[in-house]
Amino acid sequence: MLNKQKGFSLWLAVSMGSIAGIAVVLLAVWLSPIKSFTIGPQIEPSIEYGRRLIRETAALMGPGHEDPEMRFSGTYMDCASCHLDAGARPGTLSLLQATSRYPRFSGRDGNERDLRDRVNGCMTRSMNGTELSRDSTEMRSIVMYINNLNAQYAVMGQSKREPNEPPAFVEPDRGADISAGQIVYQQRCEVCHGSDGQGLAAATAKSEGYLFPPLWGFDSFNNGAGMTRILTAARFIKARMPLGQEDLTDDEAYDVAAFVNSHERSQRANLELDYPDLTKKRIDSPYPPYADDFPIEQHRLGPFKPIREYYENLSKL
Ligand code: HEC
Ligand code: HEC
Repeated sequence: MLNKQKGFSLWLAVSMGSIAGIAVVLLAVWLSPIKSFTIGPQIEPSIEYGRRLIRETAALMGPGHEDPEMRFSGTYMDCASCHLDAGARPGTLSLLQATSRYPRFSGRDGNERDLRDRVNGCMTRSMNGTELSRDSTEMRSIVMYINNLNAQYAVMGQSKREPNEPPAFVEPDRGADISAGQIVYQQRCEVCHGSDGQGLAAATAKSEGYLFPPLWGFDSFNNGAGMTRILTAARFIKARMPLGQEDLTDDEAYDVAAFVNSHERSQRANLELDYPDLTKKRIDSPYPPYADDFPIEQHRLGPFKPIREYYENLSKL
């Protein structure tokens, strides 16, 4: 009898314990951030997963991902740090029409590239990361999402297609002035991107990405990225920055782009192999070699008119 009672209370204690245990587990699951439910390996490609990969790149495939196999990006930036509204907004660096532009010849690669190659171009340069395999769920989802944007664009009314942006950047006929750019930076950019250009990480954790992405240093785009070209950067900055108050003059956008790109950032290997035909190289490509004798400083800062004229004359020969 005594034994039975002991047995019963033991059973009671154990089962109470396990109920409490289950409750603790349930509570922990319930309290843990929503993302831990959705981050797990995604098997089926989908438009929605593609959209999230572009908007939440850091969380879904950043360098802090708990699964080392998922650490494709080399920075905690998101694709949407540059492709605003995950590429859904018309105008500068919009992805609405990307599908219809590929496949096409790439001077940088020296042959025809499709949309997947182009995505990997941004993965390895803008995101300083590694290529996604062409058939991975991630690549297929990104492509599905971009194709879907293209389909949306096809049925958009003309008024919705119009970018809501200042007039396009017009390149000043002079070299850019880095110290003038520093003043613009201090007055118009520093408040968000920081005096050290390192931006501001999301409040929760860096692995969730940035509130304000870094403009230079080792967690920003690398030195092979399109954004390191002063004309590309100035076009973007004039159209999209300062976020919410896009009113820079051409001169300010040009100088601040020079200032941003005067800083150190991650180095991409083998950049000298880009543009196998050097006469096709972008005139503002900041890294050698070139098919001309203009100094590297002029390719970085301008003035670009003489360089442009040189190549125009070459093509007339
Ligand atoms: C640092 C800014 C930056 C980030 C971050 C970035 N991109 Fe880009 N992306 C660019 C620029 C600049 C271009 C245009 C390059 C040019 O003019 O040569 C571009 C072009 C593209 C294009 C081609 C668009 C077209 O219409 O031709 C695609 C597709 C693209 N990016 C996808 C991505 C994806 C996917 C990611 C994230 C994995 C990403 N990008 C991250 C700056 C960025
Ligand atoms: C009000 C805050 C704010 C200000 C001010 C601001 N930015 Fe940004 N910037 C952002 C945000 C946020 C993003 C990422 C885009 C997004 O999340 O929508 C961004 C993205 C960028 C990017 C592309 C991503 C990267 O990290 O390289 C560049 C380049 C940039 N800003 C340059 C500038 C420059 C230059 C100025 C000053 C002329 C400036 N920004 C002022 C908030 C700001």
